[in-house]
Amino acid sequence: QKNGFRFFMEKEIYEQSDVVSDCMLGRIKDSEINFDEINPSILDGINEIKICACGTSYHAGITSSYLFERLSKIKCSVEVASEFRYKEPLLTTDTLFIVISQSGETADTLEALKMAKNAGLRTLVVCNVDNSSMTRVSDATILTRAGIEKGVASTKAFSTQTVVLWMLSLYFGKIRNSISKEKLQSEVSTLREVPKSLKIEDSIHEKAKRLSKRYLHGHGFFFIGRDVFYPLALEGALKLKEISYLHAEGYPAGEMKHGPIALADPELFTIALMPQNMLYDKIKSNVEELSARDSTICAISPLDFDLADDFIKINKSEHYMLEFFEMLVVLQLLSMEISIRLGNDVDMPRNLAKSVTVE
Ligand code: F6R
Repeated sequence: QKNGFRFFMEKEIYEQSDVVSDCMLGRIKDSEINFDEINPSILDGINEIKICACGTSYHAGITSSYLFERLSKIKCSVEVASEFRYKEPLLTTDTLFIVISQSGETADTLEALKMAKNAGLRTLVVCNVDNSSMTRVSDATILTRAGIEKGVASTKAFSTQTVVLWMLSLYFGKIRNSISKEKLQSEVSTLREVPKSLKIEDSIHEKAKRLSKRYLHGHGFFFIGRDVFYPLALEGALKLKEISYLHAEGYPAGEMKHGPIALADPELFTIALMPQNMLYDKIKSNVEELSARDSTICAISPLDFDLADDFIKINKSEHYMLEFFEMLVVLQLLSMEISIRLGNDVDMPRNLAKSVTVE
């Protein structure tokens, strides 16, 4: 059932363009966003959104927190479910509690959801598995329609979660009247471009393969980005850790000078996410600082960057989220190719399970 691909993970990376189209089907009509499965009254009396999730789903949550504040103009915070549960959180009923989960069974996320529900909060789950525990507990469910994800390392679940949450932030913006008609229209037409930006060009996959030859020797990796490219950096680092067993950290680029830059030397590989339309000059100067300290730089960007030791060029896009999805694919392919070269089991990495039903 791998359809000619070497691993399920590879098949699932390549499926992203199609499943993302499925997840928009019926939810985008003309230049409108609608979710038949939720009632606009879900926002009545709501002043804040709190998101809880684990792992890759947590990264989709952080990404969406930028979008909820930017597009819906609703205050939004995100927490790792295992931390949230035991911190004695102060919960108020003007908060919409959103959990994100591929499986719908992750113990910490499920318990966080129950806690919020017991405290009287309105709850919503963004989930890939219908009739899972979380969908049964939550007041409302939005399914991501990614299909079964077999690879332990999550790929298409993340892209569909991100698209659903982006659509939701626009939908909330519309309900709240906090987004102009023109802005909504232009965001919707960008959303329609996402499947195209997830289509994988042979040259990009080849480049990832080629780089994997040298990168498997890296002793440490920093993935750096700003804004939504920061959670994308976290996700890139997590993918590399999970299947290649190489040490990797995701960092907000602006934080490097507050400590981590002390590690910079030629053995340190920095994967820099450099979108053209989101704080380019800022990240450029962060990368220049690392380069001046001899870190080996791999830039992923639509713009040429002379200081990079390696460079993966993505297509130019008007909207930063399209650059986001193009970079996502590059990061997924890079970690997969490194893992293959190391002879690891890409689909079933050591020590990991697909669904974490114990805390
Ligand atoms: C990473 C990965 C895990 C899961 C996490 C949450 O590739 O698969 O980090 O994202 O265990 O799982 P769900 O989304 O099922 O709650």
